[in-house]
Amino acid sequence: MSKQVEKIKELIAKREQAYLGGGEKAIDKQHARGKYTARERIEMLVDKDSFEEYDMFKLHRCHNFGMEKKQYLGDGVVAGSATICGRLVYLYAQDFTVNGGSLSETMAQKICKVMDMAMKMGAPFICMNDSGGARIQEGISSLAGYGEIFERNILASGVIPQISAIMGPCAGGAVYSPALTDFIFMTEGTSYMFLTGPKVVKTVTGEDIDAEHLGGASVHASKSGVTHFTAKTEEECMELIKTLLSYIPSNNTEEAPRTECNDPIDRKEDLLNEIIPEDPNQAYDMYKVIAAVTDNGEFFEVQPKFAKNIITGFARFNGQSVGVVANQPAAYAGVLDVNASRKAARFVRFCDAFNIPIVSLVDVPGFLPGTGQEYNAVIQHGAQLLYAYGEATVPKITITLRKSYGGSHIVMGCKQLRSDLNFAWPSAEIAVMGGSGAVAILCAKEAKAKKEAGEDVKAFLAEKEEEYTDKFANPYQAAQFGYIDDIIEPRNTRFRICRGLAQLATKRDSLPAKKHGCMPM
Ligand code: HXC
Repeated sequence: MSKQVEKIKELIAKREQAYLGGGEKAIDKQHARGKYTARERIEMLVDKDSFEEYDMFKLHRCHNFGMEKKQYLGDGVVAGSATICGRLVYLYAQDFTVNGGSLSETMAQKICKVMDMAMKMGAPFICMNDSGGARIQEGISSLAGYGEIFERNILASGVIPQISAIMGPCAGGAVYSPALTDFIFMTEGTSYMFLTGPKVVKTVTGEDIDAEHLGGASVHASKSGVTHFTAKTEEECMELIKTLLSYIPSNNTEEAPRTECNDPIDRKEDLLNEIIPEDPNQAYDMYKVIAAVTDNGEFFEVQPKFAKNIITGFARFNGQSVGVVANQPAAYAGVLDVNASRKAARFVRFCDAFNIPIVSLVDVPGFLPGTGQEYNAVIQHGAQLLYAYGEATVPKITITLRKSYGGSHIVMGCKQLRSDLNFAWPSAEIAVMGGSGAVAILCAKEAKAKKEAGEDVKAFLAEKEEEYTDKFANPYQAAQFGYIDDIIEPRNTRFRICRGLAQLATKRDSLPAKKHGCMPM
């Protein structure tokens, strides 16, 4: 055997060793937990044979606490480039079979390398987390590694899409890298995220809680809003990531990929002409409206389980990717509150950063009153949504279906926030406030006098409310001032959105020169 052939054999043997990560026993343990290994995960996500791995032979340099005996080729992360549906991505997957996927200095270097390449190439960056956190034996070097990663997450924000999939433990300060990315996915039952684990919680606060209830997928999907998507299995998680990627561009200088559209843009939906209930206090399902207007009724919802009073997600109109923001009358009457505001604000900002037009479907009675909201800074969070809409320079189309009252009218993409096309259905009610509230204030003195004179106050207030409703609870006042560009027949909504988006395709708008704004947070 020639020396060269011998060396090639050695290379192949080393590669095979690296493929085994922490070894067969550790892989079996990973599988027994219902989890895949780092390489299996990458294989599931990317186009066949497209993965190009970097730093497979990298080793950690730690000698503390017996670490010299815990050397595995590539250390605890698999990193490189690949394609997904033919599009370039950079990615890494932490390898729990190697020292619990804990982050060493060299692992951080591997991760930073792919992050830097993603930035240079203008390609999405995807990370799959499954790690015990900072490698304890490395002390400050591991923390410094996290710092390097976080700084890159921050610099990449708004330049390339960043996606995190949590597929195992993600604890302590390690949670901040995913939190800095645009979208977080979590697998149900096998992943958790928290700053301090159950034991520390018990010691500090005395609270008894397990990992699942403290930071499992369902907690972060419904209560905290930290995660955007949950998946029952890792396979499902990969499919969701691919779907998300199909709606977004590779970087902030590109547009999202367009698809062929076989759904006629002038498709009329008669059900929309009848969807608004007679009783203004009765709910209807905004999902039905969304399905009626988007290409083939498809909608990829973001944060479906969190703040259900507002709906956010991606859809296509005539093949163009669009961010949809819609109040949901079927959940808390579609009222805006702290969580709905921050959910929608974040989504609007993502769309704006990545050249994705925003279509808003408005039916909002106002902001939720009460101490629960005020003490939790609903003022600040409402302002966040206002700021996000007002700052966004992408094409913006707002359709008012029914209620649009007071502050919430302004916040939800009104004309003055530089919305491009504002349409209203004939059922729209655009006013400072609803009839009963307005009459209670405007006619308080008269009502008191009538009560004292023994007259029928109820009938008086009802008559005044009718007068107010006739005058204000319609779209014509707003249209009279040009704040509504047109009042449209509901069944034509899809066509008006599609035609509007085509018209706005060349939109150019900008912000005053500044380092950055100070968004209320
Ligand atoms: C070094 C670690 C490690 C860590 C796990 N391991 N976490 N090694 N540093 N942080 C090693 C274990 O010693 C073990 O090695 C192997 O990984 C598998 O771990 P197990 O404990 O056997 O697995 P399991 O029972 O599934 O428990 C997983 C775990 C637990 C829940 C993640 O390992 C754990 O609690 N780890 C510590 C978590 C933690 O407190 N991390 C620091 C968070 S603070 P062997 O060789 O025996 O197989 C932090 C700060 C970041 O991360 C700050 C950023 C700014």
